[in-house]
Amino acid sequence: MIDLRAKPVLEIRRQALRDRVAARVASGHRPPKLCVILVGDHPASQIYVSRKEKMAGLVGFDRETIRFPGSATPEQVRLRVSALNADPSVDGILIQRPLPPAFDEKEVCLWVDPEKDVDCLHPENVGLLLTGNPRFLPCTPGGILLLLDHYGLTVSGKTACVIGRSLIVGKPLAALLLSRNASVIQIHRQTPDPASLCKLADFVFVAAGSQGLLKRDWIRPGAVVVDVGIHRLPDGRITGDVDAMSVGDSPSALTPVPGGVGPMTIQVLLENTFTSSIGKR
Ligand SMILES: NC(=O)c1ccc[n+]([C@@H]2O[C@H](COP(=O)([O-])OP(=O)(O)OC[C@H]3O[C@@H](n4cnc5c(N)ncnc54)[C@H](OP(=O)(O)O)[C@@H]3O)[C@@H](O)[C@H]2O)c1
Repeated sequence: MIDLRAKPVLEIRRQALRDRVAARVASGHRPPKLCVILVGDHPASQIYVSRKEKMAGLVGFDRETIRFPGSATPEQVRLRVSALNADPSVDGILIQRPLPPAFDEKEVCLWVDPEKDVDCLHPENVGLLLTGNPRFLPCTPGGILLLLDHYGLTVSGKTACVIGRSLIVGKPLAALLLSRNASVIQIHRQTPDPASLCKLADFVFVAAGSQGLLKRDWIRPGAVVVDVGIHRLPDGRITGDVDAMSVGDSPSALTPVPGGVGPMTIQVLLENTFTSSIGKR
């Protein structure tokens, strides 16, 4: 079974990005700048945001994390986002999810200027993706495709099953797979007999947020399995949506958790931010 680790992919892509940033700076431009907004003290979000900040620093970006208390109002945060939209030194803006309940997710997706929406959640960017002319790659789905490309795994002409239909993973992943000529089955909580449908697939992508959901009887032997889920166990270990004990050696390739999809997501975020900086002083 192939272990689809992010590390070798990242070694190549991070160096390439570092080189592009250095060339940009050497030609008299400022480094790209990524701003991350964090509202509240969600423990996993604190870790994700500090990882993004660290990785942005490693490739030579300017970066800023703007923290709000969990009691901040949507209007306070929206005004700050507006100021970042208007700031010509900022290339990328990401609002870390989950947000406190007072925030309306559909409304928040409209706040970031589409040209700085490096998380690819603004309806304009989602529309560009669906019409086959993406401005930015959606971070997690884009990272998954980079991972498959590196390991020479082609979805064209194959059957792909996506478990989950969120705006951040499931929907854009299905769109990207379709654009690469996969035949896509999408599973959600209302899907009857999901295991039988999933078993039809050559590629299985599980992004349900349900620890250990994917068992051996859900997959066709030899399928490629991509685990997007992230769960922290009481003992501090991280695990995913795949029940690793149950699937055993049935897949032909499997992404590890941690060390698979997660680090690829940050890489795409940084590459999007670099794309956004092109042509700006
Ligand atoms: N590695 C990364 O970089 C990265 C990035 C983002 C998210 N994640 C992780 O990926 C997981 C999913 O994240 P998300 O934001 O997409 O989650 P989400 O918004 O909660 O969406 C979960 C989706 O899975 C479906 N689902 C849940 N349980 C199911 C079940 N038993 N059977 C069939 N479908 C089921 C839901 O169906 P309904 O629509 O019917 O409710 C929903 O569409 C989480 O563990 C998250 O932490 C990882």
